[in-house]
Amino acid sequence: MNKNRFKIWAIASLMAITTPTFAQDAPNADNGKKLYEANNCGSCHALDKKMVGPALRGVHERRSEEWLIQWIRNNKKFRESGDPDANKLYQEYGGAAMNIFENLTPAQVLDIVEYIKTAPAPSAPKTTGPVVDSNAGDQDDSSTKYILLILVAVFAIVLMVLARVKNTLKRIAAERDGDVESSKKHDRWYQKFLPEKLGKMNPTVLAIFTTLIIGLPAAWYGYKFGITEVGVQKGYAPTQPIAFSHKLHAGELKLDCKYCHSTVEESKSASIPALNTCMNCHKGVQLTDKYHGEISPEIKKIYAALDYDPEGMPGKEFGNNPKPIRWVRIHNLPDHAYFNHSQHVVVGKLQCQSCHGPIEKMEVVQQWSTLQMGWCIDCHRNTGIDAANNNYYAALHSKAQKDLKEKQNHSQYFGPDGKVKITPAMNGGLECAKCHY
Ligand code: HEC
Ligand code: HEC
Ligand code: HEC
Ligand code: HEC
Ligand code: HEC
Ligand code: HEC
Repeated sequence: MNKNRFKIWAIASLMAITTPTFAQDAPNADNGKKLYEANNCGSCHALDKKMVGPALRGVHERRSEEWLIQWIRNNKKFRESGDPDANKLYQEYGGAAMNIFENLTPAQVLDIVEYIKTAPAPSAPKTTGPVVDSNAGDQDDSSTKYILLILVAVFAIVLMVLARVKNTLKRIAAERDGDVESSKKHDRWYQKFLPEKLGKMNPTVLAIFTTLIIGLPAAWYGYKFGITEVGVQKGYAPTQPIAFSHKLHAGELKLDCKYCHSTVEESKSASIPALNTCMNCHKGVQLTDKYHGEISPEIKKIYAALDYDPEGMPGKEFGNNPKPIRWVRIHNLPDHAYFNHSQHVVVGKLQCQSCHGPIEKMEVVQQWSTLQMGWCIDCHRNTGIDAANNNYYAALHSKAQKDLKEKQNHSQYFGPDGKVKITPAMNGGLECAKCHY
């Protein structure tokens, strides 16, 4: 988290250094928008609705420029200086503290205020109901396809049986009428579909022959299907006990994944957040406007799970009968495979999205990748790693440099575009023991 703060601070300072000319001019809304985004104001504020902090539209009407500069740059110092409005506001928000942004210059704060002042009014409100992401449809499509195929097969069998019955009846009728000639001729119903030689074959041999021709490819297909599709949960998107939306929290509110999946950089597992993390905001965010004065039923589930009484006496809101929420686990490798997040996110510098897809657009999380061995291996063969700037690869990097200089097996170091490319595969990323105990 510190690293993140540092990043934000670094970006903002860079902007401060590179935009000195603006500082002299009238406030610049475009610059303000960039600063608003770079400093993640949107993770706690929206322009038109109360979130963790107040809705900001019109704030320039209720506060002076001087007040806003002091508040935004260092609200703590400002409160401690005894400003009554600042302290009142802080109390209204139950002591939820806003970050300190001393890296912003007064002129930059005014840019942000200008942006808030001039930002266009919102368009139609978005729905937050549990809409399944359209990509989840992939799997349904393929299963409908299989159902159709099966139906066609059943239909064909029914037709064949009917044809057979009809022929038998015809033959019986012919025999009864003494028309031996015609009964012989139509002896076997399939004869008219087949070349004469085949048609005259012993029916048992013919049956075995046909079974082989149709059965073998079907069996092969079934085998392929079994090893590549069965157990693969790509697209799996179970309904969760609380309609938590990544689209809203990670997308619209722009919360950092690590705010909730806090162990992802340090450990093997990414971890699912405790409900206390939700309470940082949902003690206050109850969506009563949306539910005509009632607390949102989904937020009530969080309260129930923590045995929290929003009306309770201060200090006694939490009862002692919590019932933890059981989130349905979506991604799950078999026990014999070892996967480590830290290695991929920190050492490999991969984005979550390269494996989990556009989570920030998913109303309901779905498994985006197959998680099969072939998927791991493909990426290890094809992803370039930054071997030059990472101590973890020091040995590999010097070996590669040496090989390239001496032109030894050096073709392996070039990607299809002719540029040097070092992959996890060269670092043992294809060794069985790295992924299997
Ligand atoms: C971690 C959450 C958080 C972040 C990030 C944050 N704020 Fe705030 N902000 C708050 C809270 C909470 C309040 C209400 C006062 C309090 O409790 O401190 C507030 C109050 C304010 C106010 C006063 C509003 C009023 O009605 O008087 C302004 C202006 C403001 N924030 C602007 C910003 C700007 C600009 C940024 C980004 C540079 C920002 N905030 C980032 C949480 C945040
Ligand atoms: C506000 C907290 C929060 C934020 C921010 C957040 N998540 Fe989550 N995440 C959750 C919760 C709660 C669950 C379990 C419920 C669910 O699956 O929706 C979850 C589930 C997941 C899962 C599925 C876990 C499983 O069961 O296999 C993945 C993958 C995931 N999040 C990735 C991300 C990524 C990537 C981001 C950033 C773009 C992100 N999350 C941001 C709270 C959060
Ligand atoms: C940084 C603040 C923040 C955190 C942390 C947070 N939320 Fe939210 N959440 C919000 C805001 C703001 C909204 C309301 C958006 C709106 O007005 O539509 C919201 C909306 C929701 C809703 C929709 C409620 C409804 O009836 O429409 C659910 C459910 C929800 N959050 C669950 C969670 C859960 C579960 C967690 C913890 C894993 C969590 N939130 C963490 C800020 C947060
Ligand atoms: C290289 C691919 C890859 C990347 C990058 C990646 N994940 Fe995962 N993630 C996985 C796999 C594979 C699993 C299943 C792990 C298991 O079952 O042991 C998983 C599982 C999860 C889970 C379920 C809980 C757990 O740890 O098993 C969450 C939550 C999650 N990832 C979040 C994230 C977040 C947040 C990021 C980015 C910071 C991220 N992942 C980056 C591949 C990846
Ligand atoms: C999107 C690309 C991608 C996918 C998918 C991926 N990996 Fe990786 N993996 C990497 C990169 C990049 C590294 C290099 C980082 C490193 O060496 O630690 C790496 C490194 C590793 C390492 C460490 C190798 C070493 O350097 O000693 C292991 C083990 C590993 N991955 C296991 C897995 C498993 C298991 C899966 C599938 C469940 C998987 N990976 C899927 C990109 C990926
Ligand atoms: C980059 C990581 C990685 C490497 C390297 C790797 N595997 Fe796997 N392997 C996996 C994962 C992940 C699974 C689980 C896939 C699944 O459930 O479909 C798996 C599954 C398997 C299975 C179970 C069969 C199956 O399809 O579920 C066998 C057997 C296996 N691996 C053998 C090997 C052998 C032998 C090697 C070395 C030549 C090897 N693996 C190298 C990641 C790896």
